[in-house]
Amino acid sequence: DDPLRIGLCGLGTVGKAVINVLQRNADLIAHRAGRPLSIINCASRRYYETDGLDPDIFSGDVLASADRDDVDVIVELIGGTTTAYELVRRAITNGKHVVTANKALLAEHGNELFDLAREHGVVIAFEAAVAGGIPIIKALREGLAGNRIDAIAGIINGTGNFILTEMQREGSDFFDVLAEAQARGYAEADPTFDVEGIDAAHKLALMASIAFGMPLAFERTYTEGISRLTPFDIQHAAQLGYIVKHLGIARRHEGGVELRVHPALVPDWHLLARIDGVLNAVVVHADAVGQTLYCGAGAGGEATASAVIADLVDLARHDGTSTPMLGTLLSKLTDQHCLDIN
Ligand code: HSE
Repeated sequence: DDPLRIGLCGLGTVGKAVINVLQRNADLIAHRAGRPLSIINCASRRYYETDGLDPDIFSGDVLASADRDDVDVIVELIGGTTTAYELVRRAITNGKHVVTANKALLAEHGNELFDLAREHGVVIAFEAAVAGGIPIIKALREGLAGNRIDAIAGIINGTGNFILTEMQREGSDFFDVLAEAQARGYAEADPTFDVEGIDAAHKLALMASIAFGMPLAFERTYTEGISRLTPFDIQHAAQLGYIVKHLGIARRHEGGVELRVHPALVPDWHLLARIDGVLNAVVVHADAVGQTLYCGAGAGGEATASAVIADLVDLARHDGTSTPMLGTLLSKLTDQHCLDIN
């Protein structure tokens, strides 16, 4: 069978992990996808050496990948909202599907980009943009498709949860722990996004859009981070039977949807209180199934690569034609709007 031809843009922690996992599990993945997944172009501003990939496929021109006739899908892993925005727009207008882990790009420009994708009959797939390796987008979009979803609450920033978990141990310094999260490849290029709740707000906006059929409302999300918490706050709460967790919460009300991101006191018996380190967890309340919980690695190279590859396998199976049209889903269902709670 013809391979799915991939143009991989960005060779940071996640880009390298995508190459490694695609190589390591090539046979398994081809079997599940019904055809091989083949990286035919790898673009990055940084040089990357790898065994097993032809050095000729590497290029320093990220944007040019979107113009290649021999590419079916662009995997955007460069991050940020400038070059990535250009790249994604260009790929879509050239009729290519896009797989991205870039929640900032989608939360800020998604309403426009999904419309553009719909116009051009291509898919923007973004499982990797929310909660790292947890297949939460698939769960909300497909697994719970028969339900009215009432609320979503979760720990959706791995770096923040890693910091809070370590701060609970006496003596851990905020900046040392953040440096450790950066060294492990969990943090955003600008870690302010992690510690000020912006990354979590990006992800919450994406989940809410699918769950409630509303336009992306990142700007209207109440957003507070963890940077003002001290080890004293955290340890004091623990003495009272509470664990401090940074939560993203989206809840349906009569008049609209409430979106908020902030530190919260979670009773120590609650499932979310036990989610430590880089783990993420999302609880969804839905009318037919009741409460479901999704848990796993929320950041890190291979965990995020797992989600990127899941989207690629979906595309390889359906070539976009019967992949649930994410863009359509986001831009057509607008029965809900965001409540102003700032
Ligand atoms: N910086 C993000 C986090 C990466 O720590 O959760 C995964 O989206």
